[in-house]
Amino acid sequence: MTGADLSQHHERRPPAAFHASDSSTLPWQSGKTPLMLAPMQGLTNRALRALFIQRVRPDILFTEFMRVNPVAAARRLSAGDLREIVPSEGGVPLVVQLIGHGLEALVSAALAAQDAGAAHVNLNLGCPYGRMTTGLTGGGMLRRPELLKAIIPELRRAITGTFSVKLRSGYEDPGQIFSLLPLFEGAGVDFIVLHPRTVLQEYAGMADHGVTAAVVRATQLPVIANGDIRTAADGRRLLEDSGAAGLMLGRGAIADPLLFQRLRGLAPEEPGREERRAELRQYLYDLVERYGKLFCGENQVLGKVKGVLTTMDDPDFEKERKRLKKARTVGEFCAELDRIG
Ligand SMILES: Cc1cc2nc3c(=O)[nH]c(=O)nc-3n(C[C@H](O)[C@H](O)[C@H](O)COP(=O)(O)O)c2cc1C
Repeated sequence: MTGADLSQHHERRPPAAFHASDSSTLPWQSGKTPLMLAPMQGLTNRALRALFIQRVRPDILFTEFMRVNPVAAARRLSAGDLREIVPSEGGVPLVVQLIGHGLEALVSAALAAQDAGAAHVNLNLGCPYGRMTTGLTGGGMLRRPELLKAIIPELRRAITGTFSVKLRSGYEDPGQIFSLLPLFEGAGVDFIVLHPRTVLQEYAGMADHGVTAAVVRATQLPVIANGDIRTAADGRRLLEDSGAAGLMLGRGAIADPLLFQRLRGLAPEEPGREERRAELRQYLYDLVERYGKLFCGENQVLGKVKGVLTTMDDPDFEKERKRLKKARTVGEFCAELDRIG
């Protein structure tokens, strides 16, 4: 598959599932192969999303997960999260991701998100942290799949826009996803995002995209493939081998935002080191500037930008990252950036 193919139409059978809401449509143009920016708590805030919109314009954006308050019925989502909610940013659809537990809490949070303007809602069934708590949120929900039998259809009924799920392949059994597909299809979930590691695996090993390909074969729902896409070649191979409807880019895009353009054939597929250096410098400058406008105080800005550096596990720039992480002020950080370029 070439980069140009990514922006061309490809045939897809419509899901046979009943949709509770007739107005429900996919957040991307039918037949296109969307490239999504993954939700990443602590990273993909409004400022970073704006940077990505300006530089590479992902086809779909996600919020960081929004925690659903299990006890305060009148305030399921925080005021800060509610302020974050819009149907789209710069014309790019924004999917609001919820994480929580309890049927009533999740449904009322989805309604609150909708009232605040969400057009697209996603349920997190993948986060591996906090899974031992009694709440069983995120990936922990896969420990109690029987609870999902009520939660998924009720959420579908409540959500008038698109409703999707983002999940691991299973809690400990990578084959668990296959037992959940009839539930997602029957309820009328619009699409699924699959990160094919188990919850117990956390981030160890590699994503097993053999599972992605098998899931694509087993369902008519659009499957978005996620996990370990670091280069354009990785992404293309994955689309070809799995037949996935689209890709979601996480750590690979944080390390190299131009990965979106490389996949589209609009930036060199294998950039040279000098080109990557210049890109890194410009990207981090831009980020510091945007964080300066969003966050209060130098420490917060530095903390956030260092969080991005921590996620960039590119061995080529190990030395530079180490030096940048030592900066104690924004001034020192920018001086280090100047040494890069
Ligand atoms: C720092 C960090 C924060 C994350 N936060 C979220 C989140 O809020 N919601 C979510 O569904 N997944 C979250 N994830 C998982 C990613 O969305 C993605 O599924 C995972 O990193 C695998 O994709 P990748 O290999 O492209 O990074 C997070 C991952 C990282 C590394």
